[in-house]
Amino acid sequence: MTSPTRICCIGAGYVGGPTMAMIAYKCPDIQVTVVDLNQQRIDAWNSETLPIYEPGLHEVVKACRGRNLFFSTDCRQSVADADIVFVSVNTPTKVTGVGAGKAADLAYWEGAARMIASVSTSSKIIVEKSTVPVKTAEAIGKVLQRNCADPEVHFEILSNPEFLAEGTAIKDLENPDRVLIGGRDTEEGRAAVEALSSVYERWVPRERVLRANLWSAELSKLTANAMLAQRISSMNSISALCEATGADVQQVAHAIGTDSRIGPKFLNASVGFGGSCFQKDILNLVYICESVGLKQVADYWHSVIQMNDYQKNRFVERVISGMFNTVSGKKIAILGFAFKKDTGDTRETPAIDVCHGLISDGADLCVYDPQVPKDQIHRDLATPKFLWDHPTLPNGAQMPFSCSQIEKSVTTSSDPYQACAGSHALCVITEWDEFASLDYERIYASMSKPAFIFDGRNVLEHERLRSVGFIVYALGKPLEAFLRPE
Ligand code: NAI
Repeated sequence: MTSPTRICCIGAGYVGGPTMAMIAYKCPDIQVTVVDLNQQRIDAWNSETLPIYEPGLHEVVKACRGRNLFFSTDCRQSVADADIVFVSVNTPTKVTGVGAGKAADLAYWEGAARMIASVSTSSKIIVEKSTVPVKTAEAIGKVLQRNCADPEVHFEILSNPEFLAEGTAIKDLENPDRVLIGGRDTEEGRAAVEALSSVYERWVPRERVLRANLWSAELSKLTANAMLAQRISSMNSISALCEATGADVQQVAHAIGTDSRIGPKFLNASVGFGGSCFQKDILNLVYICESVGLKQVADYWHSVIQMNDYQKNRFVERVISGMFNTVSGKKIAILGFAFKKDTGDTRETPAIDVCHGLISDGADLCVYDPQVPKDQIHRDLATPKFLWDHPTLPNGAQMPFSCSQIEKSVTTSSDPYQACAGSHALCVITEWDEFASLDYERIYASMSKPAFIFDGRNVLEHERLRSVGFIVYALGKPLEAFLRPE
């Protein structure tokens, strides 16, 4: 097969939705159907309010929905009709059984594979879009081939990991640094790689479509996320040293980022990385290393997560110690709840850990985020770690806080000024652009005194805020004691 005409994608999430919308947009002659078991999600994709917020996504969907882009819950028919099936289902961290807390849970993937096998009456290319452990293609190949009634049907599996970043997904998909396709080094394998490559080459220059063997492609995705997260943890470790010595982490980042061997991206110190992928994928890498007896390698990558946890705790401790060692009964405004700007995604957001730490010390929180609704904030704060992507709580799972405790300690506001009014402190957790241009004189006037700002993203003008009257703590920046020695 050199020119596929029908593509189906299983999983209409943050990856499946935007990637398929871009393929449909760029390839009007290919019919693209995105399917999901979740009726509500499919209804949202078919409505004016898409289930995810992503700059530019709505325009792309509007241009091709109903033309050659369809969203449906009829998984079986759409898969049966397709030449290429992308699998973009969630692969969360396992919460029970062997590898719990580290290994990837492939139950959704396996379910999708069994369904593909049971409905297929023609040969297909199966594309791993989800991030999966190394050698998943081999295991899934067995599930597919052994569950298909027709021995003439052949499944050729490709690994095509997705490198988009939430918040810039459309830009990343339209102009990717590279597209990676892993396949078997056989005649069928090479033909399948060419068929998938021909889709991307409608808009991606051929030299940016990289070919690799299956296992290299699978491992590349885990390694890419581990390396990106490692840069953040490295800078976060240096931010602690900066605060202890009076150095400025942004100056350090700028100085090292101009070295072309290091480069300027992903050097921002912050309250910690979040999102559905970094922690999950590193834990998965750690688990794979342990499984093959590479303890030192596992420990090395695990330290990236430990540093992230340290940074989130350090921020909470700084807030509490800065406010005279207690936040009990104090109102604190939390500016931003999403794990980063330009997305409404809150999976593994550092805001959860910061809020938990402050609630534990007795604080009353008021959260403002331009894209995250109240019920999502309350649900996230009452859900145990790792369980956000599992439909039911396993036996013995501990709720971090009861729903009533969250209701009592956490309010939300759709207005940042209202969120800050009457508060003792405000904490910037997400780097939303609008936070830099708020009227801080107005906010200061409405707050209890002394009024504190804890900038977990270094997006505010700290000296100007100090001149307004705030006591300002900024991550990795000289503390007030260094700025104004006694
Ligand atoms: P998601 O949770 O937003 O979407 C997954 C969707 O798959 C859900 O809507 C779920 O209902 C559906 N699903 C699960 N099993 C199904 C089945 N058997 N049949 C039909 N639908 C099924 O997940 P997201 O964020 O899109 O991630 C998907 C994969 O892509 C994961 O492996 C993730 O690690 C990877 N990835 C995610 C990125 C991100 O920024 N979110 C970036 C790159 C990769």
